[in-house]
Amino acid sequence: MNFHLSEEHIMIRDAARDFAQTELLPGVIERDETQHFPKDLVKKMGDLGFMGIMVDPKYGGSGLDTISYVLIMEELSKIDASASVIVSVNNSLVCYGLEAYGTETQKQKYLTKLATGEFVGAFCLSEPEAGSDATSQKTSAIDKGDYYLLNGTKNWITNGGRADVYLVIAQTDKHKGSHGINAFIIEKDMEGFHIGPKENKLGIRGSDTHTLQFNDVKVPKENRIGEDGSGFRFAMKTLSGGRIGIAAQALGIAAGAYELALKYSKERKAFGTEICNHQAIAFKLADMYTDIEAARHLVMKAAWDKDQGNNYDVSSAMAKLYVSKVAMEHTVEAVQIHGGNGFVKDYHVERLMRDAKITQIYEGTSEIQKIVISRNIIKE
Ligand code: CAA
Ligand code: FAD
Repeated sequence: MNFHLSEEHIMIRDAARDFAQTELLPGVIERDETQHFPKDLVKKMGDLGFMGIMVDPKYGGSGLDTISYVLIMEELSKIDASASVIVSVNNSLVCYGLEAYGTETQKQKYLTKLATGEFVGAFCLSEPEAGSDATSQKTSAIDKGDYYLLNGTKNWITNGGRADVYLVIAQTDKHKGSHGINAFIIEKDMEGFHIGPKENKLGIRGSDTHTLQFNDVKVPKENRIGEDGSGFRFAMKTLSGGRIGIAAQALGIAAGAYELALKYSKERKAFGTEICNHQAIAFKLADMYTDIEAARHLVMKAAWDKDQGNNYDVSSAMAKLYVSKVAMEHTVEAVQIHGGNGFVKDYHVERLMRDAKITQIYEGTSEIQKIVISRNIIKE
């Protein structure tokens, strides 16, 4: 067993750390306030290869492993979790979904642009009445011969306003339950596709989240991904990898808050000494350090499972469940260590605390991760 990163992994991590410090940190408070993430920053992430980290270079990707992906996600998330969710959705949901299950034509047409950041992707599963209960979705795609007729509403869609390509999961035969679901590639300009207003959110405010409406959208047959009826399994398999990315996002949020709290506690004085010398603060730091290290091991194990070709449904669910809890608990502690300063925007920890909450909700809530884990361990 080897707990050390390779030299290549260290270089990749340092490149992401450098980018986060020089390009993401300036303006992160403003992006949170204005709820706007500039296009040129997405382009810069694309230029560095962050939009297609694991994609084969023959499709324009960086050809890196999942360990590299989580290292990049952690570093971006320490500074700006809005940036990292744009990266996460594009990489582990959209690019992965197309590379693993798409046809060669679909890969040439869409993946090559998504992997370089020329295109941005969105993944559309959730609906107003079907979030956790994803098989209950109502969006329908009726087979009309050489095209499908798509109707329905998707909500909470990350990159909803900025994407060029949308992977949409829809019901083609409601009598077949989860076996009557398909995944489709929708282009932003298709007739009958409408983007609703941006949600005003608690956290990851730089990332845009929208409701999408599909009114008689004609989707060419060749835009279906995979075999007829494979869309639900496509979504579940893709989300297993996505949860590794969100676990790494939660890790970065927790680690970022810890680093700020440690630094602050060594500078701020109370009762004649730096506050880190008060045991109540020192013990908080010890708990944070320990839990973050445990969290990192779970994230790395899930990434390693994926790289080794092992089943990662459970390790990704465990990583997301645990690390998101650590992120939520310790960002609250980081605010506490900062005292009053923790409550204002300039010190960054209040934003990290707000951003942490979403990691317990999206890509399957914590309760859903427990369903995935428990079903698998009971089955074994
Ligand atoms: N791999 C392959 N197949 C799978 C699978 C997996 N990981 N998980 C389930 N399936 C298959 C099952 O084997 C079953 O097939 P059979 O009928 O042939 O046996 C079929 O799919 C239906 O599975 P279940 O009976 O387990 O379905 P369920 O209705 O009980 O739901 C669930 C299972 C795990 C709760 C699932 O609905 C789920 O994951 N819900 C959460 C949805 C979610 O994560 N949404 C995220 C949206 S994207 C997002 O959030 C992005 C973002 O924010 C940035
Ligand atoms: P519900 O399913 O209504 O759940 C409400 C509560 O009930 C939760 O606590 C849940 O855990 C609990 N619950 C539900 N069922 C059970 C059960 N069986 N056992 C125990 N507890 C249960 N979706 C996408 O498809 N694409 C995206 O890009 C995307 N981005 C998002 C971005 C943001 C900022 C947000 C807020 C959401 C995003 N989502 C996206 C949607 C997200 O995946 C869903 O919000 C999430 O899956 C939960 O669904 P829901 O909101 O309908 O909650």
